[in-house]
Amino acid sequence: MKTLTVYSSQGGNTRKLAEELFKQLPEEKSIAPVAEAPNPSGYDVICVGFWLKGGQPDPAAQEYLKKCSGKVFLFATHGAAPGSDYAKMGMNKAVELIAGATIAGSFSCQGEVAPKVLETAANKDPQPPWLADAPAAKGHPNGNDFMNLSEALIAAGLKSKADKSSGCIIEGSHAM
Ligand SMILES: Cc1cc2nc3c(=O)[nH]c(=O)nc-3n(C[C@H](O)[C@H](O)[C@H](O)COP(=O)(O)O)c2cc1C
Repeated sequence: MKTLTVYSSQGGNTRKLAEELFKQLPEEKSIAPVAEAPNPSGYDVICVGFWLKGGQPDPAAQEYLKKCSGKVFLFATHGAAPGSDYAKMGMNKAVELIAGATIAGSFSCQGEVAPKVLETAANKDPQPPWLADAPAAKGHPNGNDFMNLSEALIAAGLKSKADKSSGCIIEGSHAM
C-alpha cells in the first residue's frame, strides 16, 4: 500500500499528529507539509491533516483537499472539544471538499492553542464557540491522542492490529 501523508500546520500541533500518523503507517510511505506536497494522484491512500480555522479546515489544507480523489484518511487538530458539534462540523466541511473521494477514515483531537490566540479570541464579540473548550487543549496532541489515532488507523485498514503497540510508545509524551 502506497500512502502519502500531507499536513498543514501553523503552530506545530497538526505536524506532530502527522508525524505520529506517518510513524504508525506501514511501508511504502511518504510525508510532506502542504506547501511541498506532491500531486495526490498515484497513491493508494492520501492522509490529509488540517487545523480548524473559523470552523473549517485551514485555507492551505482546503486547497489541497480539493485536488484529492481516490481513498482519503482525514485528520485534524482543533481547540474545540473532541467529538463536539463544532469539531464534527469542521470534519464534515473537509468531507464536502473531497466529494469525489472515498473516506477511508478520520481522526481528530484537540491541539494546544497559543496564549496570544486565546487572548485575541476572548476579545471577540461574540466569542468563538470553541473558546470555552480551548483550555482543555493544553498539552494536546498527547500520548492518549496517539493511541486513539492508532485505533482509527486500524479501523480504516491502514494499520494492522499486530502493529498496535508500536503506535503507543512515544518519546517524551505520556499516555493519560
Ligand atoms: C486564527 C485561528 C483560528 C482558529 N479557529 C478555530 C476554530 O474555528 N475551531 C477550533 O476548534 N479551533 C480553532 N483554532 C485552534 C486551532 O485549530 C488549534 O490550536 C490547532 O491545533 C492548531 O493547529 P496547528 O498547531 O497545527 O496550527 C484556531 C486557531 C487560530 C490560530
